[in-house]
Amino acid sequence: MRRRPLLLAGLGLALAACGALGRPAKGNGLQALAAQRGLTWGSALSLAALDQPELLTLIQHNVGAITPENALKWDATEPEPGRFSFSDADRQLAYAKRNQMTVRGHALVWHRQLPGWLESLEPTPLRQALERHVQHVASHTRGRVISWDVVNEPLDEQGHGLRRSLWLEKLGPDYIADALRWARQADPKARLLINDYGLEGDDPQTARKRVSLLTLIDQLQRDGVPLDGIGLQAHLVAPREDEPRFATLPAFLQQLRQRGLAVEITELDVSDRELPSATALRDGRVAATYGAFLRAVLPEPALKQITTWGLSDRDTWLNGAFPRSDGLPQRPLPYDANLQAKPARSSIAATLQPTEAPR
Ligand code: XIL
Repeated sequence: MRRRPLLLAGLGLALAACGALGRPAKGNGLQALAAQRGLTWGSALSLAALDQPELLTLIQHNVGAITPENALKWDATEPEPGRFSFSDADRQLAYAKRNQMTVRGHALVWHRQLPGWLESLEPTPLRQALERHVQHVASHTRGRVISWDVVNEPLDEQGHGLRRSLWLEKLGPDYIADALRWARQADPKARLLINDYGLEGDDPQTARKRVSLLTLIDQLQRDGVPLDGIGLQAHLVAPREDEPRFATLPAFLQQLRQRGLAVEITELDVSDRELPSATALRDGRVAATYGAFLRAVLPEPALKQITTWGLSDRDTWLNGAFPRSDGLPQRPLPYDANLQAKPARSSIAATLQPTEAPR
């Protein structure tokens, strides 16, 4: 075997450290560690974050991709029929560009954060509204969004097929294929994803939900629908007693890869809502859950990127959505509310450290 000239090998390493997308790796930030594995590390970005310089410094140190947390959702982008509004989203996209970060688009079709006017439409105008929305939003961001959550949370929570959303009830299951096709027309280069939660664990409900997803994928692929990947939201819950395990996850990721799909972790966080109040105990269990989860997903070659849903506990959505019974704020993210690194941050960094050659 011929040896590669040293210069070329050095160039290859430098490129790997920049990630596939030219994002410079910053010291020991999470993006730099992820880039050594050919991955991008991302975070959701709130609008409020844009006005917090210290938080932005932390984001710039650790992150190579952002997902606008709310600004690309339907209620923000099309508050009235046909009146589109991108001022908030464009501020976030401009921030990403200035900082050489890529952007994940979230989300074109979802059953939440919808404007009221949509819900009263009859099927035919509803389908027309969906087409206009997908085409308009994905065209607006064309060339600026690397992957789109085209359809968010289409699966029934209990694992019984598709979710009975407004979309399913009024348009039938074809709304998923339609949305993917319209997104492809509007932005031929973006990676198009179906994104959902509750697909990571080892319980029977998760197993059923995985079957629902694989059935949906197989149908879409038989019909020639453009679908490039699956987003696993990965809103995890630190377990009260057992050690966190993700024993069945690697085989599921393999099933996705065998279908030719990319995998992204799109909204990772670890809720401590089932744990007692003591901070050290919570932080340890959250950190262990991050470590176990990353050990399960990192070996998967189809994995492209990992995004946490915020970077510091001051950003988390979980206190509103799933408050702790003792009223304490949750500690689900790598940095605490004062922007200090927590055990979760160390656990992520340690798990990302390459133990073998970068792939
Ligand atoms: C959440 C945001 O973080 C909150 O700010 C907002 O109030 C509600 O939505 N799954 C998703 C995300 O796909 O869009 C949700 O984000 C969290 C759950």
